[in-house]
Amino acid sequence: MKSTTIASAAILYFSLIHCVVAQLPRLGGVNTPGYEFTLYENGTFTNNPHTPPAAQFPHFSAEGANLYRVPWQQMTPVLGGSINTSFLAQYNATVQAALDSSADAHVIIDLHNYARWNGKIIAQGGPTNTQFASVWSQLSKFYGANDRLIFGIMNEPHDLDIAAWATSVQYVVNDIRAAGATNYLLIPGSNYTSAQYFPTYSGPHLLNLTDPLGGTGRLIFDVHKYLDSDNSGTHPDCVTNNVAILETLVHWLEASGNRQALLSETGGGNTASCKTFLGQELAYVNSTYPTLVGYSIWAAGAFDSSYVLSVTPFRNETDQSLWTNADIMTVAVLRVVMR
Ligand SMILES: *[C@@H]1O[C@H](CO)[C@@H](O)[C@H](O)[C@H]1NC(C)=O
Ligand SMILES: *[C@@H]1O[C@H](CO)[C@@H](O)[C@H](O)[C@H]1NC(C)=O
Ligand SMILES: *[C@@H]1O[C@H](CO)[C@@H](O)[C@H](O)[C@H]1NC(C)=O
Ligand SMILES: *[C@@H]1O[C@H](CO)[C@@H](O)[C@H](O)[C@H]1NC(C)=O
Ligand SMILES: *[C@@H]1O[C@H](CO)[C@@H](O)[C@H](O)[C@H]1NC(C)=O
Ligand SMILES: *[C@@H]1O[C@H](CO)[C@@H](O)[C@H](O)[C@H]1NC(C)=O
Ligand SMILES: *[C@@H]1O[C@H](CO)[C@@H](O)[C@H](O)[C@H]1NC(C)=O
Repeated sequence: MKSTTIASAAILYFSLIHCVVAQLPRLGGVNTPGYEFTLYENGTFTNNPHTPPAAQFPHFSAEGANLYRVPWQQMTPVLGGSINTSFLAQYNATVQAALDSSADAHVIIDLHNYARWNGKIIAQGGPTNTQFASVWSQLSKFYGANDRLIFGIMNEPHDLDIAAWATSVQYVVNDIRAAGATNYLLIPGSNYTSAQYFPTYSGPHLLNLTDPLGGTGRLIFDVHKYLDSDNSGTHPDCVTNNVAILETLVHWLEASGNRQALLSETGGGNTASCKTFLGQELAYVNSTYPTLVGYSIWAAGAFDSSYVLSVTPFRNETDQSLWTNADIMTVAVLRVVMR
């Protein structure tokens, strides 16, 4: 019937438009750590969160930043139990300050636990997948309807069985959707979610994940890459612009069904080598959008301005030299002007 055909065509047309509109914009910004400061890399907790200064969000947004990654840990004092509502209220104030800092500010809700709880790996001797998924399913009810909130499912998994890890991630994706959340999800691999090892090690397993919403456009791979000699992000000097490594990643993403990744941690010291190399890296990331959606620099937030990779503004509100000289915001500023 003709009217049905027209209706179907209209629905198809609307869906296509919706898909295009639903793509994440070019993102650029900064990590604002603090809530996770007392977590050791092995996943053991103490309980002493720091609140990232709220003034940083309008500061960076005025310069063109539109992405903030806000790490947290120990949201549920009891494994698999209810969220600590006092902690969530505190965390939420930071998330809202970031969202309110500009109309297109996006926030990564980053579970910063290295796939571990008290030193033991999720579903590999540690918490069950159900306990892991529980915190995300609770957060989905609070944060599930806002495309400017991106769920960072887990920061930097490492030294684990990747096939079992892929199963854990699928479990969480399913629970998040079952709780009604439609947000973009960041999918992390092993090797501290290294951009370098993603195509050959984690990627082949994580490519098989499915989204109950359909398609894979809302499953964005989460990658990290530093520029110092051992890729640890602990030295002030940079030795590479990472372009060859990111090119390999981009080719793999394109060959794997035009998938996307987000460089959610990168950065360097306030040194001449990092200004040059980080600037080159970010220009490359920018040139590959939408395959590489964007980046967030490590780190500002509750770090003081003397931290080795600090991009925390000084008390007089001027920026660190890396921030101003590596063209970190040139990319974002151009994006704002072009919109
Ligand atoms: C709940 O969060 C508050 C605020 O961060 C903190 O002071 C308190 O110790 C937490 N409670 C538990 C049981 O972890
Ligand atoms: C976060 O803060 C916003 C704005 O104040 C509020 O509407 C929302 O209910 C809060 N969400 C949570 C989970 O506290
Ligand atoms: C985790 O690391 C901290 C600091 O190095 C250490 O004190 C703690 O015993 C470790 N916990 C486990 C379970 O290995
Ligand atoms: C990547 O991580 C796996 C464990 O998850 C490990 O076996 C492998 O050696 C790591 N690869 C590199 C290059 O570090
Ligand atoms: C991914 O799925 C394909 C098709 O079902 C399968 O052949 C392949 O072995 C899977 N890869 C992994 C790493 O599980
Ligand atoms: C702001 O403070 C920093 C660090 O103390 C200093 O290096 C810089 O010169 C100051 N800038 C201005 C404009 O006062
Ligand atoms: C970012 O990419 C856009 C689109 O290709 C381009 O117009 C712009 O000049 C690039 N920005 C930088 C700083 O390279």
